[in-house]
Amino acid sequence: MKALILAGGAGTRLRPITHTSAKQLVPVANKPILFYGIEAMAAAGITEIGIIVGDTRVEVMAAVGDGAQFGVHVTYIPQDQPLGLAHCVLIAHPFLGDDDFVMYLGDNLLEQDLSAFVSAFEEARGASSPPTAQILLKKVPDPHRFGIATLDAQGNVVHLVEKPADPPSDLALVGVYLFDKTIHTAVASIEPSPRGELEITDAIQWLIDQGYRVRCELLTGWWIDTGKLTPLLEANRLLLEKIALRIDGTVDDASIIDGRVIIEAGAVVTNSTIRGPVAIAAGARITDSFIGPFTAIGVDCEVTNSEVEHSVIMTRSTITDIPRLEDSLIGKEAVVARTQRRPRALRLMVGDHCQIDLE
Ligand code: TTP
Repeated sequence: MKALILAGGAGTRLRPITHTSAKQLVPVANKPILFYGIEAMAAAGITEIGIIVGDTRVEVMAAVGDGAQFGVHVTYIPQDQPLGLAHCVLIAHPFLGDDDFVMYLGDNLLEQDLSAFVSAFEEARGASSPPTAQILLKKVPDPHRFGIATLDAQGNVVHLVEKPADPPSDLALVGVYLFDKTIHTAVASIEPSPRGELEITDAIQWLIDQGYRVRCELLTGWWIDTGKLTPLLEANRLLLEKIALRIDGTVDDASIIDGRVIIEAGAVVTNSTIRGPVAIAAGARITDSFIGPFTAIGVDCEVTNSEVEHSVIMTRSTITDIPRLEDSLIGKEAVVARTQRRPRALRLMVGDHCQIDLE
């Protein structure tokens, strides 16, 4: 079993961050989203991983390297244009060969371990009338926003539809799929959709229409497609919910640490209150500030005389004299500063290297 992780794409829904950076490398709970996916593959015993990379390939390759840090071996597969999820399978064929594989969307996060899902497919493949694909479904309250599956009485998938106006069920396709080699024939047989992409839902529908069996598994834990700001902050919140208190950095006597907080070695907290769940990365400096629940402060950030809550602040950014910053994503090396006092809360999405001076 191999894995194909998709980390190319345009990331239009997460601009301006994606003008300069890969959305899959945005940190949640201070770890890049993509790393959770790679770790999930490693935990499921999959060590041969192909990663589809696009315009942000240099950054992704620098962060992931050869995969040794995760105990896996990574092969990069460049995609010149984001021509669709099924296009990724098409170009990955030389890497995948005839092996079964897991396809995983690199900006998705799942609470549940994938091992059970992978073994269920392997087991079913050994039985009579083996499935050629397996999808993962999750009941959602707003099915018109997702790819939606219809099942028959035996629980096999009979129909898939993208973002239906009149949803036939509330079972959304989660960004994890298992395929055997038949998918290569499917992706070579379909045409681009009206939006110009080779859709994986069309390829799976092709399998069903040709009489192949597509089985499904129902996901019970949470699943988040982090491609937009609100779900990204939600993923940050859900992952921070799981942390335990660990203080390896320096906290002075005038500071208060309340609840589950991680302060990495080399971080310095001075005259501040940190109310968990909060993660503060190595080298960060928090001075005369309040850091509220569900905040992740990145490596070498500086927060001075400010209040920050429910936000992700990326590497080497500085927040100075901001009375309240909430529900925000601040890119790398950004500067958010204020020169005159004005008692207003800010909700910001700030790209890398930006400078915001509030006067
Ligand atoms: P999407 O979030 O569906 O697409 P996108 O990344 O282009 O984002 P947006 O809609 O905001 O413009 O992609 C899901 C994952 O698959 C994501 O990690 C990017 C990746 N991907 C590719 O690697 N190649 C592709 O051709 C596409 C469409 C996506």
